Amino acid sequence: MDEKKSECKIKIIKDGPYIVTGNVPLQESIITPKGKAYEYQPGRELPQAETYALCRCGKSKNPPFCDGSHVDCNFDGTETASRDRFEDRAELFKGPELDLLDDNRCAFARFCHSEKGNVWQLIEESDKEGFRELAIKTAVECPAGRLQVMDKTGKVIEPEYEPSIEILQDPERRVSGGIFVKGMIPLESEDGYIYELRNRYVLCRCGKSRKKPFCDATHVPMKYKDEQ
Ligand code: FES
Repeated sequence: MDEKKSECKIKIIKDGPYIVTGNVPLQESIITPKGKAYEYQPGRELPQAETYALCRCGKSKNPPFCDGSHVDCNFDGTETASRDRFEDRAELFKGPELDLLDDNRCAFARFCHSEKGNVWQLIEESDKEGFRELAIKTAVECPAGRLQVMDKTGKVIEPEYEPSIEILQDPERRVSGGIFVKGMIPLESEDGYIYELRNRYVLCRCGKSRKKPFCDATHVPMKYKDEQ
């Protein structure tokens, strides 16, 4: 791991924010429909800093940053997500050219859809022309890291990301999404536990996930919107 990557970290504060250290670039990204698939469009510019605190309770008046509102709203940020390893939690889907592990941790970003079907259909037909590439794309573009694609030798196919954080917006659903964390940034629980290192994951920022600290798409039914 290079020096820049080794300095990056996210620390969860008990019933409070995520403290991000190590100069991690921060930007807003808009989930945007493109035919039957989706792409990211850049959103607002956000201030950059060596250390910053991202709201976890959903009540900040200065989103995506913490403004102390978690104290006033008595935020209960208890971490309830499984700490089992991804491979132990995930279900295996086998296809002719590719296999897929799926841990069902959905942030409802919908990048698993394409013009030729969803990732599970594409895996099943991964020996057909053009389906292999599309199966890989729809798996690796899932921000939640729910989907991990492998070739038939078991080699994981995963993009290389520089550490960065994207604040997701989902105007198609008229909601604000979670915090997309890219590039193997370590995540430390309030009790000091280090979660399994992952290349992609989405953190909850509406405060209502049942799998805290991770997003479980609850922001959609609760209509979370981070407008001030
Ligand atoms: S976590 Fe501090 S305002 Fe939301």
